[in-house]
Amino acid sequence: MKAVTITTLKKMKQAGEKITCLTAYDYSFASLMDNAGIDAIMVGDSLGMVMQGHESTLPVTLGEVAYHSRCVARGCTRALLIADLPFMSYQAGPQQALESAGRLMKEGGAHVVKLEGGAPMVETVRFLVERGIPVCAHLGLTPQSVHQLGGYRIQGRDEASARQILADAKAMEHAGASILVLEAVPASLAGEVSAALAIPTIGIGAGPLCDGQVLVLQDMLGIYPRPSPKFSRNFMREQDSIEAAFKAFIAAVKAGEFPTAEESF
Ligand code: KIV
Repeated sequence: MKAVTITTLKKMKQAGEKITCLTAYDYSFASLMDNAGIDAIMVGDSLGMVMQGHESTLPVTLGEVAYHSRCVARGCTRALLIADLPFMSYQAGPQQALESAGRLMKEGGAHVVKLEGGAPMVETVRFLVERGIPVCAHLGLTPQSVHQLGGYRIQGRDEASARQILADAKAMEHAGASILVLEAVPASLAGEVSAALAIPTIGIGAGPLCDGQVLVLQDMLGIYPRPSPKFSRNFMREQDSIEAAFKAFIAAVKAGEFPTAEESF
């Protein structure tokens, strides 16, 4: 099967085909979801919580993401591989971001790097893109800012912050970002952002109007010991194998059956 690229995802958006994405952190899970037909695999810094048991993503290091990305890359024959730039691996400025992104691509086999933040990150996104690094921007609830946000809570609820997220999304696209992750924002705002951009949006807790959906592996398999967010769904519940759960997720997203209104804000 043909490899998925950022161009494929853009064409899928134009054609109205939903994009499917899951997080993975090792070879075996990556290989199963790749075989199941997932469009993109994300080596999220969520690995700090679901793999390492930390309370947040902040302790994750660049070396750890590079290591997990390298493992995932070996199982990833078709899907687009997106790897997270962890906390403090890019915030110091464009040069630091370039060096970190370069490591994730050279050592980790990533095709795209993801970074969190709006307007203050525009210059960094432009700097990376001009140097040949595809970027996925991440807006809304940005977990690396959990202490500044005062917890893991929905963003863009009031008019001013909703306008800011829309403006940041447009600025990210203008700076050259290829994909936008929207996390924990009202479904109506995610719909407005998705309609305003030519690049695809991938939502997590952002409702059904995004161009694609991503879930954290441990949440969608129901194997994370701490409470899962209300926007997630346990796809293992009605399946008898992990591969079948991946296929059920892909089918539900492609058919527009996930997320429902109850799984959205
Ligand atoms: O860290 C992560 O896994 C993520 C996705 C859930 C969007 O950022």
